[in-house]
Amino acid sequence: MDNIVEKVKEEMIQISNEKMKETNYDDWNNHIKLVYENGHKLALERKANIEIVDLATILHDVARIIGVGPIEEHNVYGAEVAEKILKKYNYPTEKIELVKKCIYNHIDNPKNSVEEEIVADADVLAHFDNLSMLYYISLGKRRLNLEEAKKFVKNKLEFDFCKLSSYGKEKYKDRYKNIIKTLFGYNNTSS
Ligand SMILES: [Fe+2]
Ligand SMILES: [Fe+2]
Repeated sequence: MDNIVEKVKEEMIQISNEKMKETNYDDWNNHIKLVYENGHKLALERKANIEIVDLATILHDVARIIGVGPIEEHNVYGAEVAEKILKKYNYPTEKIELVKKCIYNHIDNPKNSVEEEIVADADVLAHFDNLSMLYYISLGKRRLNLEEAKKFVKNKLEFDFCKLSSYGKEKYKDRYKNIIKTLFGYNNTSS
């Protein structure tokens, strides 16, 4: 079981590199790595189970990246794909269940553990860390015009902030307000 995190990380980087050949978009460096790093820091800070958080952050979007199931249910399919990957490494069943719950609940679902909260918070923080990715999605992938793209990015960031746990909201509220002010001007924050 040594280095399970490193092994799964390597596998995820390979999955992302394969996908990049089709899409020209680097999921690992633009998103997954940032979720993993933010999750790891939060897990240390909140004294959560670091291994569970590491594995769940690395695998949380695996279904979206490999294109299994509809994107709206990438949390459900992602939990199943993660199980298959972790079983390959003989990871203990009870720990697999914990990782699966984090993946299942990384979208806007109620959370049942500090690890689940951290994975969802880290997902949001990865957007705060890479705002250009949100413009890439809106302007590049979705071909929106600039006004539509601004609306898309603003709505996404507002939704993201609302999704944060109370711990995350308290810790990152100033950062969120600064991002909104920087991108959309000083008249755009409600408090
Ligand atoms: Fe996701
Ligand atoms: Fe994500």
